[in-house]
Amino acid sequence: MRFRLSFAQGGSRRAVVWSIAQALDARQAALRNDSRAVSWTIEVDEARSQLVALPRRPDPRFDYRVAHLPASSHPTLAAIMARVAAPQPGERVWDPFCGCAAELIECSRLADALRLIGTDRDPQAIAAARANVEAAGLDPARVRIEEVDVYAGSPAKADVILTNPPMGRRTALAGGLHASLRRFVSHAARTLSPGGRLVWVTPAAQVTAAAGAAAGLRVRDHGSIDMSGMRVVLQEMRR
Ligand SMILES: C[S@@+](CC[C@H](N)C(=O)[O-])C[C@H]1O[C@@H](n2cnc3c(N)ncnc32)[C@H](O)[C@@H]1O
Repeated sequence: MRFRLSFAQGGSRRAVVWSIAQALDARQAALRNDSRAVSWTIEVDEARSQLVALPRRPDPRFDYRVAHLPASSHPTLAAIMARVAAPQPGERVWDPFCGCAAELIECSRLADALRLIGTDRDPQAIAAARANVEAAGLDPARVRIEEVDVYAGSPAKADVILTNPPMGRRTALAGGLHASLRRFVSHAARTLSPGGRLVWVTPAAQVTAAAGAAAGLRVRDHGSIDMSGMRVVLQEMRR
């Protein structure tokens, strides 16, 4: 990770930055930076006593993202989810609500010879996913992107199910958000191969954890995330 410091309350504060740089160098030399190649700004907000990590825009690691949708995952979230799922070479990875395919593309960076399957019922999402997959230079023989409903388009088995599912008002109105999340967890449990894992963000972590446990999955929460004002939990379920 390469970063520079900035101050929410303004000013370049060179003497402070210099002393922080020296202290970091002494304690953790791996964090030494080349200031010409930073990809993050760490904003020091003294009024709130917090550090905020802001990716540089555009961040060249996300150049593949030539198309996205209003509900698309922030690329850094997709990258984190892929790392939690930790795909292994040759595994079959399915994103049932793939949108613009950010999570699948992030997985492709972590292991060779993955078989990637993205499904979504929205034709605009499919067009965006195909454009991004092409921009990322993925081997078309190893990627399947299909316009299909989640329950009609599941692969027979998946080693990794990685997804940012729909959680908006329309889903809630269409039969209840909790009911649709529970239904999806039991479907995922049946689709996962032994040792497989579902990694996703859930707006109702207790509800989905209970559904996962009832389906025989081992559940682990990886902390909560603020997704543009909506609190979700990054949750993993293993078969
Ligand atoms: C939160 S977005 C996914 C964002 C995606 N990770 C991205 O980065 O673009 C949820 C997606 O689920 C899709 N969706 C909603 N209901 C669906 C269903 N029943 N079957 C398949 N896809 C569905 C929507 O079209 C939307 O693209």
